Amino acid sequence: MTQTANRARLVLGNWKMHGSLADNAALLDALRAADAASHCQIGVCVPFPYLAQTAQALAGSAITWGAQDVSAQAKGAFTGEVSASMLKEFGCRWALAGHSERRTLHGESDQLVADKARAALEQGLTPVVCVGESLEQRESGDTLAVIERQLAPVLALGREAVAAMVLAYEPVWAIGTGRTATPEQAQEVHAAIRAALTKLGAPQVQVLYGGSVKAANAATLFAMADIDGALVGGASLVAEEFLRIAAN
Ligand code: 13P
Repeated sequence: MTQTANRARLVLGNWKMHGSLADNAALLDALRAADAASHCQIGVCVPFPYLAQTAQALAGSAITWGAQDVSAQAKGAFTGEVSASMLKEFGCRWALAGHSERRTLHGESDQLVADKARAALEQGLTPVVCVGESLEQRESGDTLAVIERQLAPVLALGREAVAAMVLAYEPVWAIGTGRTATPEQAQEVHAAIRAALTKLGAPQVQVLYGGSVKAANAATLFAMADIDGALVGGASLVAEEFLRIAAN
């Protein structure tokens, strides 16, 4: 609906490890029932077992869907992993890569995150590459250096690859804490990311903000020049709240 520069606004929900067949059915039906003209482009990133349900519930709608992770490997003996080609079979548009919960709880390295993004791209999925600093890193003044380090192997994939991605800035200290970055704090990092993208020749890449986004704070975040939308956790589990965020 609304645009920042020439970049379309995008609001993605990350359900994390929430949901049940019954709860999902209600949530997906409510999203589908909303007038597509009343919100920007939206999508949901759901747990793997619910991809089939999501694909069925949203088929033919304007709403896109995807996964919260993807293997860097194409196939083989990788117990517990899910490949990009499998996600493709379920109609996924998105694959999150490098969410901070994967980086911290599962030890994912910056290089692995870039490898996952590349694996997603090879199957025509759009990777949503997440970056963000911890509270300790912010307080010691390292925010921009951390973001630069996390992005380095991703940017090394080259202009063409990066141009086909979405990036998400999610300060770890703002995730699930109710403590949103101020629009100015977020914009500072988004501007640095935009500068890196521009240097690479991919200035049109959408850069989403994530971390305690809700209907009450979305508009001020979206008013910032380099914030192109949101990656929403908790508030994406409530259809009305999620749609209100996307109505901005
Ligand atoms: P919350 O919106 O619950 O803070 O989660 C943000 C997030 O991690 C989205 O990926």
